Amino acid sequence: MLNFEYSNPTRIVFGRDRISRLDRLIPADARVLVLYGGGSAKKHGTLDRVRQALGDRYVIEFGGIEPNPRYSTLMRAVEAVRREGIDFLLAVGGGSVMDGTKFIGLAAKYEGNGEDILFSRAKPVRLTGALPLGTVVTLPATGSEMNSGGVISHQAGKYVFSHPLVYPQFSILDPTLTFTLPPTQVANGIIDTFIHTVEQYVTVPAEGRFQDRTAEGILRTLIEIGKTTLDNPTDYDARANLMWCATNALNGLIGAGVPQDWSTHMIGHELTAMFGIDHAKTLAIVQPAAWTVRAREKREKLLQYGERVWDLKEGTEDERIAAAIARTRAFFEELGVATRLTAYGVTADRIDDLIQALEAHGMTALGENREITLEVSRKILETAL
Ligand code: NZQ
Ligand code: ZN
Repeated sequence: MLNFEYSNPTRIVFGRDRISRLDRLIPADARVLVLYGGGSAKKHGTLDRVRQALGDRYVIEFGGIEPNPRYSTLMRAVEAVRREGIDFLLAVGGGSVMDGTKFIGLAAKYEGNGEDILFSRAKPVRLTGALPLGTVVTLPATGSEMNSGGVISHQAGKYVFSHPLVYPQFSILDPTLTFTLPPTQVANGIIDTFIHTVEQYVTVPAEGRFQDRTAEGILRTLIEIGKTTLDNPTDYDARANLMWCATNALNGLIGAGVPQDWSTHMIGHELTAMFGIDHAKTLAIVQPAAWTVRAREKREKLLQYGERVWDLKEGTEDERIAAAIARTRAFFEELGVATRLTAYGVTADRIDDLIQALEAHGMTALGENREITLEVSRKILETAL
């Protein structure tokens, strides 16, 4: 097992009818900015319940944070924070609203250009403050509710940032708030959670037995409840299990002390930036192709994945690996998500553009061993056609 430090300060408040807990979780004298997306939280009554729980605190709202939140939108919220003397941020939504809120929290306390935060992976920047924030989750998928990261769209790219100051102080996870999700977003949530898990698990062996067994538990749970929660959106227990899996797939627990490979996410981000394909759908396209191309490097973990997650015990090693990849693809397809680039209208002639974008964003040495060069990414994209 590799060395690690692990700390996660986010309080999780899980279950039905927990929005009223906001009154205790947010200081009584806080000046609160409630952030939300394109209107689902308003339409389905979640915002009204939040407002009621906040009582007579000073509260203003900022709506219109789009999926794959845009820097320019978020900077408008930063202006509102400064103008109104806001000292607490409350995100009500999915990953886009939560990520956007984290960014706003950092940018509001940063005196330089907000773009510096976006580019901080490539060019580190000293961030010394952030507004405290909490979340009310309406879409189980990204794990943003219990981690310190975010992804912001700007110009032709998606930029990942992270900082310990933006762990939410608390997150309210009420599965019933997700009952209104359209099926395609539920499928996205299952797949995003699945891929977060395998990007920290299907790498190379590292004797992280707890991490492996926990990852396998998440994957098997998703396989058990995936179709059920898609077909029966108000089945509370199925949705509750999806929600808790999503949070635990990306809160640092299963990734501590083991190698990680975020190449599927990084290639996927270019597909979203260039073609507007939903985040999770890009992952469903890239992951099976990436495993096919890198079956040799990931051999041992792919065999373990096949055996422990899909019960594949018969046949040669190559047959079992091929079957594990095929079962994964079939699972995504059964959730109604296509796994080929061409199904989204992306043809071979666009691969050059994608490779150029990866290069422009510095994504030239990806994977657990940093051996995914642009040439390997090209093979992965060709295999995904
Ligand atoms: O905008 P509204 O009207 O609220 O509608 C949203 C949006 O259209 C809708 N929705 C959310 N909750 C709903 C609902 N509709 C009905 N009922 C509800 N209860 O769902 C749509 C998608 O929402 P979005 O927040 O964009 O989806 P998701 O949670 O999948 O977030 C995707 C974003 O998270 C980033 C992605 O890159 C992408 O920008 N990620 C963040 C990560 C992190 N912070 O750790 C990791 C992930 O890998 C991911 O990259
Ligand atoms: Zn993701």
